[in-house]
Amino acid sequence: MSPDGPVVSARPSGHSQAATVADRADPCTMVIFGALGDLSRRKLLPAIYQLVREHLVDERFAILGVGRDESISDDAFRDHMRKALSESDEIHDVDPELWQTLCKRLFFVSADLSHGEGYAPIGARLAEIESGRPRETCNRLFYLAVPPSAFGSIVTNLSQSGLAPRSRTPDERPWTRVVIEKPFGRSLENAQQLNDLVLGLFAEHQTYRIDHYLGKETVQNVLVLRFANSIFEPLWNRQWIQHVQITAAETVGVEERGKYYEEAGVVRDMFQNHLLQLLSLTAMEPPALMSANAVRDEKVKVLKSIRWLTPETIPDNTVRAQYTAGKSSANPVRGYTEEPDVSPDSTVPTFAAVRLFIDNWRWNGVPFYLRSGKRLKNRVSEIAVQFRSPPHLMFGHSTRDAMQPNTLVMRVQPNEGVSLNFEVKVPGAAVALTSNIEIAPVDMEFNYAEAFGEVTAPAYETLLLDVMIGEATLFTRSDEVEAAWRVVDPLIRYWETHKPKRMPTYAAGSWGPREADELIEEDGVEWREPTS
Ligand code: BG6
Repeated sequence: MSPDGPVVSARPSGHSQAATVADRADPCTMVIFGALGDLSRRKLLPAIYQLVREHLVDERFAILGVGRDESISDDAFRDHMRKALSESDEIHDVDPELWQTLCKRLFFVSADLSHGEGYAPIGARLAEIESGRPRETCNRLFYLAVPPSAFGSIVTNLSQSGLAPRSRTPDERPWTRVVIEKPFGRSLENAQQLNDLVLGLFAEHQTYRIDHYLGKETVQNVLVLRFANSIFEPLWNRQWIQHVQITAAETVGVEERGKYYEEAGVVRDMFQNHLLQLLSLTAMEPPALMSANAVRDEKVKVLKSIRWLTPETIPDNTVRAQYTAGKSSANPVRGYTEEPDVSPDSTVPTFAAVRLFIDNWRWNGVPFYLRSGKRLKNRVSEIAVQFRSPPHLMFGHSTRDAMQPNTLVMRVQPNEGVSLNFEVKVPGAAVALTSNIEIAPVDMEFNYAEAFGEVTAPAYETLLLDVMIGEATLFTRSDEVEAAWRVVDPLIRYWETHKPKRMPTYAAGSWGPREADELIEEDGVEWREPTS
């Protein structure tokens, strides 16, 4: 499928409908670098299990796990993966028959990925797995589930080994595709270097940069809600929208990832990718067609229109903070600087709130407030579009304070759905309409689970299937990743070079620091307190 072709509707069904043959992915071998790691165990294998269960992968699909551990045989790898499935939050009951089907397709090879010679055993195992098959079906999907510092040497060695040849056209068979996990770079400059390296070795159509937020059903629904309904478009602009709030709040702390987080901080971890993706889907112009390039062209335009943060504007438009000890689900939890692998005097932010403006025709003057943090009160990700208040209120002064502006909330997770609130007259004695009538806000609700009676497919399931199909809409193109870095780079640089005398803090289990409230209160706005 060419990146300009129409989007195939082969989506994981969320476990209910039977897949048709046309939905199925091409046969391929998925080579996972870092196969014994956390991502592979927690996300990739459960996603593959679901795809096998829904008959969305071809019978010849296989996984070749690659890791350093020389003591791991195919059987030991299978045992590890079986254990991973039973520990997965996404799979509740492992079906023994299904496991047998999947188990036979799992292989392992030990390799030192930092040296060219390490790739020969991978080639030999691939040849074994692919033996006897028509060459055009020997497709290969290389998944880099490794720390970002290893991306550069792996893609270079992979290419030099001849295992992943550069492809001329998206229709070439067999295909080779390379999936690169986030974070793609740690600064604009570094992302550009990585892009140069990757695109010197592979074509863009072979390169899949993952942002798992894009695989979430509810994130894809932003486009459908906006562009498959005509009622929103006339209102979707500066004339009717007062502001947009995008929240990605987590209740978890940094857990065992202190080392990574000390290098990343909340802006690299959540803003550069997930939050800016939510912003660009909310703010982009309608693409001419639903194709990978058309959608990504529009997202890039939005990112490029975001007003640059500068050392002069950063102090007034941004807030950073770190969590201190507090409570999470009524249990006492420690503060960030007491977490394992975190420096006791770390100034790495675990929370940020940012006011951004998009300097284009549609959004001129409309603030986009973005916030994200760890150890907040509730786990909730949402996009709230707040419409302007009516220009004139004739229902009496007492109603004015009670009235809430209309807000369209797209709930990304949990409790996935959409709600729209509006004002209604509270039923009561028929006082003349001219005097003080009572008005109250009510919600119009759409809830995925209620409407479709099923949970939405996990993001990795959708994304892996898309790679196998060759559908790139939900992956970040090279210019898109750089455009997102361009937005956050000045902020990261400023924060790293202007250490605060005292790092603003918030207690674990709260909604963030007081400074974040003040940031938007000056615009007469309050953060929503979403419940999960
Ligand atoms: C990851 C971040 O990209 O997204 C994590 O590295 C974060 O720090 C996670 O916890 C949040 O994703 P989700 O899907 O759990 O909301």
